[in-house]
Order: sequence, then C-alpha cells, then structure tokens
Amino acid sequence: MTDALRQTADADAPATDLFSKFDPLIAQREALLATGVKDPFSLVMEKVLSPTRAICNGRETILLGTYNYMGMTFDPDVIAAGHEALDEFGSGTTGSRVLNGTYVGHKAVEEALKDFYAMDHAMVFSTGYQANLGIISTIAGKGDYVVLDIDSHASIYDGCKMGDAEIVPFRHNDIGALEKRLARIPEGAGKLVVLEGVYSMLGDVAPLKEMVAVSKAAGAMVLVDEAHSMGFIGPNGRGVAEDQGIIDEVDFIIGTFSKSVGTVGGFCVSNHPKFEILRLVCRPYVFTASLPPSVVATAATSIRKLMHVPEKRAHLWENSKRLHAGLKGLGFQLGTDVPQSAIIAVLMPDLEKGAAMWEALLAEGLYVNLARPPATPANMTLLRCSLCAAHSDEEVGQILRMFENAGKATGVIG
Ligand SMILES: Cc1ncc(COP(=O)(O)O)c(C=O)c1O
Repeated sequence: MTDALRQTADADAPATDLFSKFDPLIAQREALLATGVKDPFSLVMEKVLSPTRAICNGRETILLGTYNYMGMTFDPDVIAAGHEALDEFGSGTTGSRVLNGTYVGHKAVEEALKDFYAMDHAMVFSTGYQANLGIISTIAGKGDYVVLDIDSHASIYDGCKMGDAEIVPFRHNDIGALEKRLARIPEGAGKLVVLEGVYSMLGDVAPLKEMVAVSKAAGAMVLVDEAHSMGFIGPNGRGVAEDQGIIDEVDFIIGTFSKSVGTVGGFCVSNHPKFEILRLVCRPYVFTASLPPSVVATAATSIRKLMHVPEKRAHLWENSKRLHAGLKGLGFQLGTDVPQSAIIAVLMPDLEKGAAMWEALLAEGLYVNLARPPATPANMTLLRCSLCAAHSDEEVGQILRMFENAGKATGVIG
C-alpha cells in the first residue's frame, strides 16, 4: 500500500450499510410473521401432480395461483417434445442467440409464433421480462416518448428505465388521459404507447380499440403486452387486441411462455418491415444465453396445440364466470364487477387479514397468490386467483367451499 493510500484508509469514514434502505420492509415482514402467520412468499411445492394439483406442506393442494391458464404443463405431446429435444440437443445452449445459441428449435418456436399470430416476424427472448426490457429500451431512444398505463407491469417500467426516452404515465385504462398526454408531446417526437391486454393485478381488460385509435391518431406506435390473454382471449387466442378487432393496428405484441404456453420464455411479434434489425441491437436479446432446447421444443408444441383448443377456452370462461359469481355471492369484494379474464382478484382489507386469509386457504388445501404493494394498484392487498382450463367443475365447487370456510374463519366475510 502506498503512503497516500494508507493515509486514506486510516481516515475511512464509517461504512454505510447499503441494506438500510430495506429496514422498513424488514420491520413490516417481521411484524407480520410475529402475528403467527407463515411467510406467504416462501411456499415450497414438494411435488407437482398436475396443472391444478400439488403437494404443499405435505398436503394435496388445489392450485389457483399459477397462471397456467390452458393447463399445458403436463400435456403429453409437450412433455414428449421436451424429452426428445433434451436427448438430441443436450441440456442447454451455453450461448447467446447471436452466437452459438440459435438451434433449429429456436427457429421452430419463432415459426410457431408467426403462425399463431399470423405475423411476419417473431423474436424469442429468455423471459417475457426480458422481452419488454429489450423491445421498449431499444425502440424508444433519446428524444422519444413512451406513454404507458400507470398500472403497467414492472418489466415495462424497467424497459423504460433502461432506455433513454421520456416516460409519460397516464391513469389506468383512461382513454381521455391517454389522449391528453399524447397531445402534449412535442410535434415530430417519436412516440410509443405501451398497453396491456389484461392487467394482471385486478384481471381487468384494456379498452384497446379506443386506445389504439387515439394512439394512431396522434401518430404513435403501439405495443401491447398480451401476457395474460394469449391462448385464451380472442377467437384464435391471440389476445385482447384480436378480441377487439384491432390486432392489425398494433405494431408490437409482447408475450410470455410462462403462462398459457406452460414453460418459460418471452417473445415479441410484429409486422414491422425492419423488425429483424432488433436481433443485432437489442441488449437483453444479445447479451444473455438463449433458452434450452427442451424449453423451446415444449413451447413450440404447446403454441401449435393452442391454435386448436376452442373447447378448452370455453371451459375456462365457464370456470371464471362460476368462480366470480360464487365469490361475489359469498360476500367477497372483487377486483372487477364482471369476470373479464381468467384472473379474479379478491380484495382484502389489509395485509394482516390478507396473509391470515391466504394461510387459512392453504390450510383448507388451496393455493392462491397474495399480492401486496408496490406490485398492486392503490395500495391494495389482494388474493389473486388464476383459473385453469384444467380445473374441473368439481374443483371449482371445492374452491368456493374453501373460500367460504377460510373467509368465515378469518372474519373477512360474515
Ligand atoms: C404483463 C406481464 N408482462 C410480462 C411478464 C413477464 O413474463 P415472464 O414471466 O416471462 O418474465 C409478466 C409476468 O408476470 C406479466 O404479468
């Protein structure tokens, strides 16, 4: 050590603890656990039996919080495709898509996506999170504007943070607010409007038809994240934009393999003629390893099967309507007046009651998601239920009985 360095070391200021910013959260968590509830964010699934059942805490549990909307995780063709790819191509690519990480399977899943959405281009990322991060940060650069719904998913916000564009949020699902924000953007600036088909916290659907019209009138490009609608909503399961008849006006659709497709991965599909250049400039695509061959094989098989499942979609709608009506009838407060998607959010009075209700449901043999701020809008604590096409009528009946028992035991309902 030089004298100068030794002198600086001797004069060290007391170390600041970079973790001190987490103290309020640590205190909140400790206070919650002190009430005797289990940690709702550290559940371990000991064995998964099917898309709707797992062993948790040694007990068979109905799964109602997995986003496994179409129940594809145990589809025999999907599993067989994964086994085959694992045998033929090994366990991983160990490389980026632009170097050694593009196998025939990656091209095959991109072909499946182009067919599924009837679009010209498809680009597969390692997660949906990275798809939003990559596409938003790459296409909206310095001097451009991203106009986004305030309730957007974290990956959309993080994509905005990673890019250099100006960020303009507007009130959730408010067409007038979107129009006003767009009108204030300087003339000639590049504009990207980012919307979601289904918002995952409350399970509500966006008025995409009107919002896309307003965006296009203002000269903006539009990106729609259809993570929670793919496979289920729309005549061909292409999502809310398809359902509302405006999919051709949407410039970019973002999606994930981690919900209806039943595996992991993310993607963007588009008809933009210059889309393919993104493969060279999009950092979360270039600077990370590609998906394992078994994953892209399961995804491609699942996506192709999801093109032909009208009866599954119909059954999922039945499940959603029945659960919504049943919970409402029991006196629970719900995130939407009518069921709009396969997500039904049950509003809890506060975090303590929410955690107690979550634990009471688990003791009954039902798993749901506990969601709390900052992930939730308006500081709400929610029990989020996501239905699956594989839930039987009998299971939906059981779920309602479990909610009734847990609701009465915790005092959430009378
Ligand atoms: C709206 C939305 N977009 C993107 C994602 C990210 O998807 P993935 O799990 O593939 O990273 C999610 C996941 O929860 C989501 O809800």
